[in-house]
Amino acid sequence: MLEQIKQLLEGSVDAAVVLDRDRRVLYYNRAYEASTGLRGRQLAQKVAAGAHCYEVFPLEICQHDCLGCKARDAGRALRVDEIKAVRGDGEELTFIVAAVPVSLGDGVNVIIETYRDVTADVRIQRRLKVLLERERQAKQSLEEVVRERTQELRQAQASLVHQEKMSSLGRLVAGIAHELNNPINFVYGNVDFLGQYMEDLLGLVQQLDAATLPGEIRVEFDDAKRRIEYEFLVEDWRKLLKSIRAGAERTASIVQDLKTFSRTGGGELQETDLVAGIETTLNLIAPLLKNRIEVRRRFAPGVPRILCNAGHVNQVFMNILTNAAQAIGGEGWIEVGVRPLDEGRAVEVAIRDSGPGIGSEAMAKITDPFFTTKDVGEGTGLGLWISENIVRAHGGTMKWRNRDDGGAEFVVTLPVRAPESARHGIGAGEPRGAVHG
Ligand SMILES: Nc1ncnc2c1ncn2[C@@H]1O[C@H](COP(=O)(O)OP(=O)(O)O)[C@@H](O)[C@H]1O
Ligand SMILES: [Mg+2]
Repeated sequence: MLEQIKQLLEGSVDAAVVLDRDRRVLYYNRAYEASTGLRGRQLAQKVAAGAHCYEVFPLEICQHDCLGCKARDAGRALRVDEIKAVRGDGEELTFIVAAVPVSLGDGVNVIIETYRDVTADVRIQRRLKVLLERERQAKQSLEEVVRERTQELRQAQASLVHQEKMSSLGRLVAGIAHELNNPINFVYGNVDFLGQYMEDLLGLVQQLDAATLPGEIRVEFDDAKRRIEYEFLVEDWRKLLKSIRAGAERTASIVQDLKTFSRTGGGELQETDLVAGIETTLNLIAPLLKNRIEVRRRFAPGVPRILCNAGHVNQVFMNILTNAAQAIGGEGWIEVGVRPLDEGRAVEVAIRDSGPGIGSEAMAKITDPFFTTKDVGEGTGLGLWISENIVRAHGGTMKWRNRDDGGAEFVVTLPVRAPESARHGIGAGEPRGAVHG
């Protein structure tokens, strides 16, 4: 029986050994000899001296996890893939190892072990894996570059579109404000004269009324007074004049606001009163706040004027205040705090609202161009992106967070003297770096 097994194994391409119960080598084939890396004589001598398999050709499992022993004890064939072994010449090899217990009769039991050398396959597989991984990484970094470039392009495009829009809007508003200025001055400037003339005329009528008139004329005079409802007319005239005056005043102040707001100053930096700018902005967004939102002013004393691009800075507060007003669904409040910082070297403007706070997605993306949670037509998602750029161009910071009581808080800090980059404003700033927390 053993002879037959030997014959069978002799020509096998897999290395094979026959072991006794104690793992002494009884037989090995030619492929085994090649795998051990030992010279034929050397190997033959060792085997003749009763060497164990693990002394001739140790595998990494021989020490603790002998496959032959397990197969012997279990009484069935076992197999393990990818077992490492180091050949006599130091070369590391990988095998698929199988162990089969065989009974030769008369109580003689042997273990047949075969070793298929898969070193080359494993190497190829590993190399392939490395190549695939390299390719995957290259593809990924390419995709990242494309994504970054696309984002940059979109920002640049949005910035250009916006700059163009803002400057033409600014020109338009400035033009309209200028055109309205004259006619409203006619009304505003003349309303007092009109009042004075009318009072003179009424005085005349009173004088006439007080005079002793011939009976016939008195009757006619009284009749005429009744016809024109003289008493009502006098009273109503004064009311009318008052409301014309108030209307004209209001229109004049709106025109003034528009002029302040749209003042681009040709990119020049101007000494600016931030508090006045915020008041102007609040006037402009009054329709949004109407009877719904209480504005709480917390203006500290001694806020210095700052050198900045006034039109742009006004726009920042316009954006933040508009967002706050939009965030508040029904009734609520907006608190605007302005205070000097850093011994008067900077100014801080904090705008808090009683709205629902910033959503978790918005928290991270709030200044991304086109990020909006509002319906089409209500939001463009550009407001805070532009604001951040303006603030950054001014060498300032913009931070945002949700307060413990739920509403949002935006804090803008601007240095008293903006750097030159502020002249050009949007898109001219440093790389992104606003902090939020
Ligand atoms: N005060 C605020 N409270 C809650 N969410 C806000 C507030 N301000 C801004 N956001 C969120 O940030 C988003 C981006 O704002 P913004 O850039 O001004 O664009 P838009 O107002 O056009 O949506 C808003 O859609 C909103 O989700
Ligand atoms: Mg907005």
